[in-house]
Amino acid sequence: MEKKWWKEAVIYQIYPRSFADSNGDGVGDLNGITEHLDYLDELGIDVIWLSPVYQSPNEDNGYDISDYQSIMKDFGTMEDFDRLLAEAHRRGIRIVMDLVVNHTSDEHRWFVESRKSIDNPYRDYYIWKEPKDGGEPNNWGASFGGSAWEYDKDSNMYYLHCFSKKQPDLNWENERVRKEVYEMMSWWCDKGIDGFRMDVISMISKDPAYPDGTVEDGRYADLQPYVCNGPKVHAYLQEMNREVLSRYDLLTVGEAAGVTVDEAKRYADSRGTELGMVFQFEHMDVAAGEHGKWTDKRAEMPKLRAVLNKWQTELEGKAWNSLYWNNHDQPRAVSRFGNDSDEYRVISAKMLATCLHMMKGTPYIYQGEELGMTNAYFDKLEQYRDIESIHAYEDYTKARVMSGEEMLRCLKAVSRDNARTPMQWDGSRNGGFTEGIPWIELNPNYVTVNAKKEMEDADSIFHYYKKLIALRKKHDIIVYGTFVPLLEDDDNLYAYERTLKGEKLVAACNFSEKIQQCTIFEGMADRGTELISNYEAHEPGVLLPYEARVVLI
Ligand code: GLC
Repeated sequence: MEKKWWKEAVIYQIYPRSFADSNGDGVGDLNGITEHLDYLDELGIDVIWLSPVYQSPNEDNGYDISDYQSIMKDFGTMEDFDRLLAEAHRRGIRIVMDLVVNHTSDEHRWFVESRKSIDNPYRDYYIWKEPKDGGEPNNWGASFGGSAWEYDKDSNMYYLHCFSKKQPDLNWENERVRKEVYEMMSWWCDKGIDGFRMDVISMISKDPAYPDGTVEDGRYADLQPYVCNGPKVHAYLQEMNREVLSRYDLLTVGEAAGVTVDEAKRYADSRGTELGMVFQFEHMDVAAGEHGKWTDKRAEMPKLRAVLNKWQTELEGKAWNSLYWNNHDQPRAVSRFGNDSDEYRVISAKMLATCLHMMKGTPYIYQGEELGMTNAYFDKLEQYRDIESIHAYEDYTKARVMSGEEMLRCLKAVSRDNARTPMQWDGSRNGGFTEGIPWIELNPNYVTVNAKKEMEDADSIFHYYKKLIALRKKHDIIVYGTFVPLLEDDDNLYAYERTLKGEKLVAACNFSEKIQQCTIFEGMADRGTELISNYEAHEPGVLLPYEARVVLI
């Protein structure tokens, strides 16, 4: 498999709104990030993925862009951006931008023009359809609730929005749209950025028949089958690759809702005709149930393992994996897959980190994960800010699918706001995030869980991540070794082997709070060296609660 810098790198995702506020308005900003670059440098990460920083009315916290070539006022100016980029590069840290081009904001100049009249030159930049039987063109539901179609009474037509009605979908069938997107991307590349994380990129090609879907609970059909991995998505990405990506040395990762292993092999084909890698969602969905993501159930190890192993083994030699436990759309890793009680938070966060960073692929760390930050556990709906959470609560309780109490339980488990509470820098007021009033409440545990404390404690989660990242730089096998699953029938352990040129690495992780029988390290004491473990001393024949251990032979 070909060597690439982005395969060897560790990526750190920043959600700028919640990272660091430099001017006291309660919202994180670019200068706040620049001020904390030394922290990231100390951690050892190679790349920052910046969630959107472009001008936006913030219906969906920047994932609704009204100008791709200017910076959101709350976050600063283009000069601030240029300084951030230069300061990051000076430290050898690269910057990957979020590229949101499935849709724009309805306040984008293109849409303002498009909705003016049916003969406006921008009309065809978006997806407009005639009414069907006097109503919506089909029964698709938007991801943030309600119909995916918004009526425009001036022209008596509807426009498509897969997300909120303030996020109209761009019409990728229109060559001019594609050209504008490529020009904008080149403009950023010429500025010196190092890649793109492509927002819902699997959704840019829709089923041209726009058929009705099957309705399960509620009034609207799930639109995913008709908008994800559509007929022309690969042709568009190949074109984008020819026009832009292939002209630079970039990290590219496509957020690919609904992607299967076979599709991923095309998106992230190792010949490099489309993208470098994709974010797949199957391991995020193992606990999903009758109401989709809205559940408070936990993932069971056998199901989780089956998904992880499938992606590891089936992409081998064909495409590159991305590795992540959480991001700005998911609950906190330690709360979801580990154990965030006082007793096990630290040990289980280290175990999850070990498990992920020793697998094959490029690891992504979401801000605060390296501190073991936990879910917000808000008690009241009023504490939530996320459009998806608030709409889901309203829709499900109104339709009496779930009671308010049940829905709050689900939000505590899976709301996106769990990941969006401010970064916990120190134990001072507002965790050192802002001197003003934070746009969303902090998790009160910032007093004990914070960066300052962890940097001072050699045994902290922060230092453990630092060690994992450093190991990746030292051992090729961690990046390029072939993955082989172990203990495939165990109910609580996740274990695997990596092999490269006569070397072998064995990793085993206990995902439970009970001591578990485990003999895979037996006899290795004199043949191998321990690379890392979250326990100082081991007991023979077992793995202790949330123990993780990696041995190199
Ligand atoms: C992606 C983003 C998410 C956003 C959505 C619409 O899934 O990660 O935050 O709400 O796309 O842009």
